[in-house]
Amino acid sequence: MSPMMARKRVGILISGRGSNMMALVEAARASDYPAEIVTVISNRPDAAGLAWAASQGLATVAIDHKTFSSREDFESELDRTLIAAGVELVCCAGFMRLMTPGFVERWQGRMLNIHPSLLPSFKGLDTHAQTLAAGVKIAGCTVHFVVPEMDSGPIIAQAAVPVADDDTADTLAARILAAEHKLYPHALHLIASGAARLDGHRVSGGNSVNQAAALFSPRC
Ligand code: GRF
Repeated sequence: MSPMMARKRVGILISGRGSNMMALVEAARASDYPAEIVTVISNRPDAAGLAWAASQGLATVAIDHKTFSSREDFESELDRTLIAAGVELVCCAGFMRLMTPGFVERWQGRMLNIHPSLLPSFKGLDTHAQTLAAGVKIAGCTVHFVVPEMDSGPIIAQAAVPVADDDTADTLAARILAAEHKLYPHALHLIASGAARLDGHRVSGGNSVNQAAALFSPRC
């Protein structure tokens, strides 16, 4: 990052343990990382990730969705909180609330999500079980821009992860999660630095490494 370039202000949305949030926070500790984490917001006040973020001295906010009478009211508060923190980019990291098209459109092109499959395969819940049931040999994870349709936005970056014959949903999830922790900071770096850009329904740029590399599974 050039010394002249301001770091993008990022808000992270979580609902649970927050291991991807932790990976983003760790990455953003580097002085040359093009983004800073300015707030961590959880819809669950008891989320383990929220306590961890607070312990790191980060600004944290709990917005308990159960205390709002409608999804729109909850999202208005979320929107207000993001704007008050001066957030420019939102990273969803295990944020388990469906969002209304209105909220998504307000942040479209500025909101990222991570999903534990090679999208567009295996959208939605129980992703790892879906992956095993399909018998694919290569699984993975995807960071994408959020659009109103679930797990469907323009893809920013993907990582491929082999599936083992004896995998359970848990063992596969653990292998993919390790890749998620590398992929999300990389994808945020691409967007925050401007190296990759939204170009219609696709993201272009940022594809300059590993272009010739392929992962074979089974090995050959
Ligand atoms: C991750 O597998 C992510 O891909 C999915 O939810 C999980 C969140 O895990 N969207 P964590 O809270 O980041 O540990």
